[in-house]
Amino acid sequence: MNCPVIVALDLPDRDSALRMVDRLRDYVDLYKVGMELFYSEGSRFVRELTSREAKVFLDLKFHDIPNTVASAVRQLARLRPAMMTVHAPGGFEMLRQASRAVGEAGSVNGSKPILLAITLLTSIDEKTLREDLMVAESPLEYVVNMARVSQASGIDGVVASPREAERIREVCGRDLLIVTPGIRPSWFGHGDQKRVATPSQAIRAGADYIVVGRPIIESPDPVDAARRIIDEAREGAVRRPASW
Ligand code: C5P
Repeated sequence: MNCPVIVALDLPDRDSALRMVDRLRDYVDLYKVGMELFYSEGSRFVRELTSREAKVFLDLKFHDIPNTVASAVRQLARLRPAMMTVHAPGGFEMLRQASRAVGEAGSVNGSKPILLAITLLTSIDEKTLREDLMVAESPLEYVVNMARVSQASGIDGVVASPREAERIREVCGRDLLIVTPGIRPSWFGHGDQKRVATPSQAIRAGADYIVVGRPIIESPDPVDAARRIIDEAREGAVRRPASW
């Protein structure tokens, strides 16, 4: 198994992010760059990361009309990220065009980024779904439906909470990648994350990768924290149902 842990580089600037990558490089190969770091440091920073042989998960969560998203994805693919994201509620056609754009970029670059769809932000709960978005389904039903739509469109995988991973795996099978944030090892406080799972629980529930930020980057010893979390995740993989 490759390293199942993606470290969220939720750090204020380029220097602190690069220092973190240099410390973790023997253990972790995938790093998530979100909107804050990308919009402040730009594509040059992504190139700096890839030149250090770090793989980049560019989490910019596109959501627009299909043609615009496909063009944005095509541009971003030139930075050769390992993973990138779009919002699944953008709909089947947006997902399909984004997925095609990534495929085309991959055949030009020789490496196709993995395209992930965000099923539903974990900040949206049942009440928000019902009252603001006028969606009668539960978050779980909504997420599973978004995972099916994403899979049908050609998307490679989804981002979902660990609690939804098991149902997505049952419905969508082995071929859809599942990436879960909201990870808290038992030895770390919950912070502002409410619906959390341990690394082992998330992987056992069907996640292929877990995204971990503060338990690693705020640790006094990030290397030790990363090693413990990777060990816990691998232990979860051993305890998964054999059919997964
Ligand atoms: O520090 P922590 O481990 O909570 O960081 C998790 C990372 O995953 C952050 O970058 C956060 O923005 C992201 N994320 C999340 N929940 C989601 C989607 C993304 O925590 N539903």
